[in-house]
Amino acid sequence: MSQPRTILVTGGAGFIGSHTCTELLARGHDVIVVDNHHNSLPEALHRVESVAGRPLAASYVLDVRDRDALSGVFASHPVDAVIHFAGRKAVGESVRMPAEYYDTNVGGTTALLEVMSEHRVHRLVFSSSCSLYGAATRMPLAEDDPLAPVNPYARSKWMCEQVLADVCAHRPEFTVHALRYFNPVGAHPSGLLGEDPLGVPDNVMPYIAQVAAGLREHVTVFGDDWPTPDGTGVRDYIHVMDVAEGHRIALERPAPPGLHVLNLGSGRGTSVLGLIEAYGRAAGRPVPYRIGPRRPGDVPELVADGSAAAAVWGWRPTRDLDRMCEDSWRFQTNNPRGYRTPGVPGPALA
Ligand code: WQD
Repeated sequence: MSQPRTILVTGGAGFIGSHTCTELLARGHDVIVVDNHHNSLPEALHRVESVAGRPLAASYVLDVRDRDALSGVFASHPVDAVIHFAGRKAVGESVRMPAEYYDTNVGGTTALLEVMSEHRVHRLVFSSSCSLYGAATRMPLAEDDPLAPVNPYARSKWMCEQVLADVCAHRPEFTVHALRYFNPVGAHPSGLLGEDPLGVPDNVMPYIAQVAAGLREHVTVFGDDWPTPDGTGVRDYIHVMDVAEGHRIALERPAPPGLHVLNLGSGRGTSVLGLIEAYGRAAGRPVPYRIGPRRPGDVPELVADGSAAAAVWGWRPTRDLDRMCEDSWRFQTNNPRGYRTPGVPGPALA
């Protein structure tokens, strides 16, 4: 898809969604956002428009499980394709509230597919996850490696991929990309957009950022007895702008009907202690931490083999770990209270 198209982005006010919207707008696409703001603020969309220098075509506050409301959006706009981010994504939280994760992630995806079919929209990019690989031991992980999700979040995403595979098998008009991203972190280089979770961050990078900024006392490292070089969890961190580019490319490059599963990862593993050290370099001060117990649902290591995306798209992530930390730190210092920071460019909070 090279010519500008109309893209509906569910969860477009969220961390990855908002960064992807700036990428789509900057390339001339028309973008419509639907978001229930469970883990995002409307201010994020004002920032998206400031960064992109052009407005969204429309935005709606709704839950994708509300089929009537969602159908009304499709009826009001010439949607060509959908990127589906809306969902719950915290491993730790999913262990504590599994039913909510299955209802939101699986129920939201099936509702969206029904409404897309009703409006004859058959191009979808789905936010999948590396967590489907579970406690794999052989790194890096390729798309055809065994799947063994070990927590409700990962299982909900695995179920969504099963639904998409069955829909594509039964409905040859559908072209779907399931992008299994590893650990998206960082922020838009402008310092206006970044990761601003509501409440206590579940993910390690925003938590480190808030400790570095003095908003929290220390990072608790969830276990230093994992089978990894320094005993702490190893993940494949990928810059959120690289992830945003991957979503745009998935829509713009021609692809045959069917389900296409691709990893989005840097191919480099970083331990929690390694990330804390890298962030300290970006912030210019050490980040205090304590070793604590393992978190239920965690796995030792997840690192991507990104060669399939490179082969299919001629694309690889380009931004390194220091850049991820530097861009995250710029957002953190520019917005001490995230999108609730008064006086930062962009309209006041609604
Ligand atoms: C990373 C590492 C923790 C918090 C994320 C997303 C998920 C999916 C995969 C896209 C682990 C450790 C964490 C803390 C810590 N992405 N940690 N202290 O669990 O890999 O999952 O990436 O689909 O949506 O949530 O990310 O940042 O929670 O954990 O030591 O306070 O940091 O044990 O090793 P995770 P995370």
